[in-house]
Amino acid sequence: MKERNNIEQEELWNGRLGEGYISVANYIDRVVRPFSDLAVSAVNASPRELILDVGCGCGSTSLSFARAGARVTGIDISRKMIARARKNSKGVPNLSFHLGDAASEKLDLAYTHVFSRFGVMFFSEPFAAFKNIYSGLKCGGKITFLCWQALPENEWISASLEPLEPFRQPAQTPLDPRSPGGFAFADRDYVMDILSASQFVNIKIESLRTNVDMGQSIDEIMAFHARVGPLSGILQDLDEERGLEAIAAVKASLVARMDKAGLHLLASAWLVTADAKS
Ligand SMILES: C[S@@+](CC[C@H](N)C(=O)[O-])C[C@H]1O[C@@H](n2cnc3c(N)ncnc32)[C@H](O)[C@@H]1O
Repeated sequence: MKERNNIEQEELWNGRLGEGYISVANYIDRVVRPFSDLAVSAVNASPRELILDVGCGCGSTSLSFARAGARVTGIDISRKMIARARKNSKGVPNLSFHLGDAASEKLDLAYTHVFSRFGVMFFSEPFAAFKNIYSGLKCGGKITFLCWQALPENEWISASLEPLEPFRQPAQTPLDPRSPGGFAFADRDYVMDILSASQFVNIKIESLRTNVDMGQSIDEIMAFHARVGPLSGILQDLDEERGLEAIAAVKASLVARMDKAGLHLLASAWLVTADAKS
């Protein structure tokens, strides 16, 4: 029997993490907008384009390409997120959503552009996954995606790590920084290797760094941390009392970083572009 990959991520995004992400999707859209706007405009979508949005989540980037006239397919491994994406885009004729694993789904050799906003770092076999993604691109087609740089360059997430230290279970084996997850593509050279091995050419990896606006409401910021941030994972292993202590510790650390304008923390991403051979 063929071994299925990405099972752990499939479970996460169809369960706790997917539900959490849906509940704060509008907030995430707002926080990542400085990165998203640059990546979406790099695609320069037009009615001539057929775009595949990989790990499209609730579909906000797919929708912006469709509004620019492109024909768009969003693919995602999460049934719940695909359902939300369909609901968010009802009546848009040039946009469809497909439930599937972008690493292994047989893709039509049809797309002029593959795009992803933070949706390509979750493959258990990234080299094979990118070869598969390449197989959907027409000659001369393009890929544009965003992925996060290392955690220390992303204070908007890492600010919660230090206060969570006393609540962590001791790790059995040290975590591989390249294991599937939000920061798996932090190493620029590794991303370059994956794309080169998949036959992409003209690979460019641009560093984007800015202070993102996490907002003025500590409740909204905490909802994000408790549903999709590192706190959300740790809460799974704690009883109620310890859970409340962990929430309080993260909250105190974030409040200490706020000022009258709200919470602004460093975020750093790679904007990656490349071409399929023509
Ligand atoms: C961090 S979220 C980003 C979602 C969306 N692009 C956005 O910016 O809001 C990552 C997304 O990748 C999806 N994903 C993870 N592994 C996948 C795979 N193998 N194939 C397709 N989608 C996948 C998840 O279900 C999730 O929706």
